[in-house]
Amino acid sequence: MIQPINYSTLPADLHPETIPAHVAVIMDGNGRWASQRGLPRVAGHRQGAKTVKELLRCCKDWGIGALTVYAFSTENWQRPMAEVTFLLRLFDRLLRRELAEMQRQGVRIQFLGDLSPLPERLQDLMQEAMAVTSRNQRVRFNVAVNYGGRQELVNAARAIAQQVVSGTLSLDAVNETALACALQTHPLPDPDLLIRTSGEQRLSNFLPWQLAYTELYFTNLLWPDFDHAAFHQALQWYQSRQRRFGRLTATPTAQGVL
Ligand code: IPE
Ligand code: IPE
Ligand code: MG
Repeated sequence: MIQPINYSTLPADLHPETIPAHVAVIMDGNGRWASQRGLPRVAGHRQGAKTVKELLRCCKDWGIGALTVYAFSTENWQRPMAEVTFLLRLFDRLLRRELAEMQRQGVRIQFLGDLSPLPERLQDLMQEAMAVTSRNQRVRFNVAVNYGGRQELVNAARAIAQQVVSGTLSLDAVNETALACALQTHPLPDPDLLIRTSGEQRLSNFLPWQLAYTELYFTNLLWPDFDHAAFHQALQWYQSRQRRFGRLTATPTAQGVL
């Protein structure tokens, strides 16, 4: 009899020593997934939420220390108001429903982006979720909401300039480390692997600084169809890459320090 595959442990063909420390995901294709089924676009978002839950579980079970997902960009405000409202309500509902489970699984949730234009009730929920899970260590789960990479860099530049003006930082100390420290992803290592679904091959203003040396994986699968088997495949692909970082020989795809 064929044994069912147990996805609660790392699949046997993946090497634990080169499993990425940090995976970033542009969850794209929800609308197309729904349209293909004759459903309203929002049905795709609802289904996509289930996918992210499964992915987070895989990260936790497979020893991936950090997962950063793009849930809503600064550009997504330009969508019809009904879709934006639906998404904000979905975030609200998901947070309420999943917080206890995330707590149980040792997930530390953090939100990246400017939360201030979001409904106050949602902001409060987000703050509460970040506070309640702040001591959890099993897996870091970053959700980018109203996030724009260029805006993040502008904010970092402004914070650094402020320190220079006030005399707490010398101009000589303005370097890559100082800038990385001023980003919202600090102190996480940069993502080792970026996954974008739905066949699009662009970054759409997601983590432009942090993805400078990341392995980029594009798949035609639409986000709601990206299940644990698809993630497994992405990790196989990642482990087949040679990460040279400018050298002539590959360095082991080392696990970063969280
Ligand atoms: C990604 O799916 C989810 C968000 C941007 C919130 P899309 O909504 O972009 O789906 P497509 O790209 O239109 O199919
Ligand atoms: C990127 O997807 C943003 C998120 C996944 C949240 P979009 O669907 O908004 O990106 P574009 O418009 O195709 O670049
Ligand atoms: Mg899209």
